[in-house]
Amino acid sequence: MDFNNKVVVITGASSGIGAECALLFAKASAKLALVGRNVGNLMKVANSCKDFTSEPLVIAADLCVQDDVEQIVNKTLAHFGRLDVLVNNAGIMVLRSIEAGIDAFEEVVRTNLWGPFLLTDLAMPHLIQAKGNVVNISSMLSSMPVSMMTAYCMSKAAVDMFTKCAAVEFGPKGVRVNAVNPGPVKTALMKNAGLNEEANDLFYSTLESASPLGKVACGKDVAEVVLFLASDKASCVTGSCYQIDCGASIRELSML
Ligand SMILES: NC(=O)c1ccc[n+]([C@@H]2O[C@H](COP(=O)([O-])OP(=O)(O)OC[C@H]3O[C@@H](n4cnc5c(N)ncnc54)[C@H](OP(=O)(O)O)[C@@H]3O)[C@@H](O)[C@H]2O)c1
Repeated sequence: MDFNNKVVVITGASSGIGAECALLFAKASAKLALVGRNVGNLMKVANSCKDFTSEPLVIAADLCVQDDVEQIVNKTLAHFGRLDVLVNNAGIMVLRSIEAGIDAFEEVVRTNLWGPFLLTDLAMPHLIQAKGNVVNISSMLSSMPVSMMTAYCMSKAAVDMFTKCAAVEFGPKGVRVNAVNPGPVKTALMKNAGLNEEANDLFYSTLESASPLGKVACGKDVAEVVLFLASDKASCVTGSCYQIDCGASIRELSML
């Protein structure tokens, strides 16, 4: 796949799935705008991309802050003059009971939904001009209820519907919008949600043995599908929510 002369914005590029997406797009010759709050980590990812493509633009931005989101588009346009692909990857998980109140809900929904909605809105005129596309990083949990993960599951269910509505709205203008729905992926997500090392290892090993393929995906596995959806090879794919979960969401209930 070749993204030569294509400009790709990746949010949450400082870690995990976003960092792997950055590396794969760099290897496919894309010009990159890498977004996150941790500039040190962003610089490390940008340096590893430099071996394969021109120097990435690093943009320090908090997706929960309107000015910051506006700057993502403004700085990308000022630097590269165009925008072809938007990867809405940044996201957080919070483990919290519904009874714990509205605060966690607000934080999760603002990061996982409000930010991507606003960024997509602001990027859209440029994506229309470039006949580009959007890939949203949703989750297998968009359609699987999990206790203590209510805000996260709700936010990802909304990301799926956002994907489909945007695909319907912008398809006639030449812009495709898709999502990927990873199952568990070994990244910092669950540790940032509060799991200690031991609980984090148990979380992933339990899910590994429960999945039909007996493993969980890594960030690169997700990035490969993101790259495919963003490429011309997927020119007839829009509004899709693409499971990457080693079969975890379709495992049978053992009745025998
Ligand atoms: N890991 C999994 O099991 C899994 C499964 C399904 C879906 N996902 C989804 O995959 C996406 C990436 O997560 P990951 O697993 O790679 O986790 P991660 O390693 O914790 O990465 C999360 C990224 O989001 C960024 N981010 C968080 N809040 C932000 C904010 N307010 N503004 C800007 N950037 C922000 C972080 O950057 P900074 O800290 O630099 O701001 C970081 O780069 C998320 O949308 C997540 O929901 C993950």
